[in-house]
Amino acid sequence: MQQRSIGTTRTGAIGLGEMPLSIENRPDEAHAMRTMAAALDAGVTLIDTADAYCLREDEHGHGERIVAKALAGYGGDTDDVLVATKGGHRRLADGTWIVNGRPDYLQQAAQDSARALGVESIGLYQFHRPDPDVPYAESVGALKELLDAGTIRMAGISNASIAQIDEAIAILGEGGLASVQNQYSPAFRSSEDEMRHCGSIGVAFLPWSPLGGISSAPELGSRHAVFADIAQQHGVSPQQVTLAWMLAKGEHVIPIPGSSRPETIQSSAGAAELTLGAAELARLDAA
Ligand SMILES: NC(=O)c1ccc[n+]([C@@H]2O[C@H](COP(=O)([O-])OP(=O)(O)OC[C@H]3O[C@@H](n4cnc5c(N)ncnc54)[C@H](OP(=O)(O)O)[C@@H]3O)[C@@H](O)[C@H]2O)c1
Repeated sequence: MQQRSIGTTRTGAIGLGEMPLSIENRPDEAHAMRTMAAALDAGVTLIDTADAYCLREDEHGHGERIVAKALAGYGGDTDDVLVATKGGHRRLADGTWIVNGRPDYLQQAAQDSARALGVESIGLYQFHRPDPDVPYAESVGALKELLDAGTIRMAGISNASIAQIDEAIAILGEGGLASVQNQYSPAFRSSEDEMRHCGSIGVAFLPWSPLGGISSAPELGSRHAVFADIAQQHGVSPQQVTLAWMLAKGEHVIPIPGSSRPETIQSSAGAAELTLGAAELARLDAA
């Protein structure tokens, strides 16, 4: 698969979003293992998870634990796999999602994540979502301390505005911010400014829910006719056209489509080989 950069690390241009393997309607664990093995077989070397990917509070860290298990049980070499996790979000006993951006909480959460992943230093640790009750600089300050202590190897932020990206860089220092993960899909394009900004400052941009989210992804073609039309001309799926369109946005863009089945991550990985023409990209931009 073509390679791209996140901070100092090279990864495949298409990552795997782990969330569908840990939240509602997830498959059983054996099936989840097959999905992750299929991703690795297809050349995926970035797996995105989060401590909050679980059903309820009592299984916090579910996603991290199954990623660690999949990597440990994979027959091939996994040294070049970058596991990106996140902290700052939680699920309560009833499944409600809450945020917590307090520095002391993030310190503890990162240590718990390292334990769940079975690593000494987390490859990429992302602050999941700004906490309106905590100044952003304080939450990002915790990332800086985690970097300095070696608990995390690279730092990222998620659901961030341009002002927050710049604030994070000011705190983390030159080269200290490796990635920004924001929602971006054919239906949700309001992160284009952040995506462009990341490109101009050399920070990787990871579109989340690139196919419109778990429930909408199967209908991408029926909801977005131009994507379906171009897919038909290439003999590929509208989802593959979507990922190829994102990759063409810039070398810093690394989509992380979620998959609960081997077939879908295999298909997504194939999108890295699809090249779209300038006229096609212009039509998709305008669609
Ligand atoms: N930072 C954040 O706040 C945040 C929020 C949400 C998500 N995320 C991350 O972003 C990742 C992706 O988002 P998402 O999982 O919500 O939504 P998504 O990637 O837009 O859609 C996921 C769904 O797309 C289907 N799919 C994947 N590849 C496909 C293909 N090539 N052809 C047809 N269908 C395909 C999968 O179906 P099957 O289930 O049938 O395989 C899966 O359920 C998450 O897994 C998570 O890691 C981050």
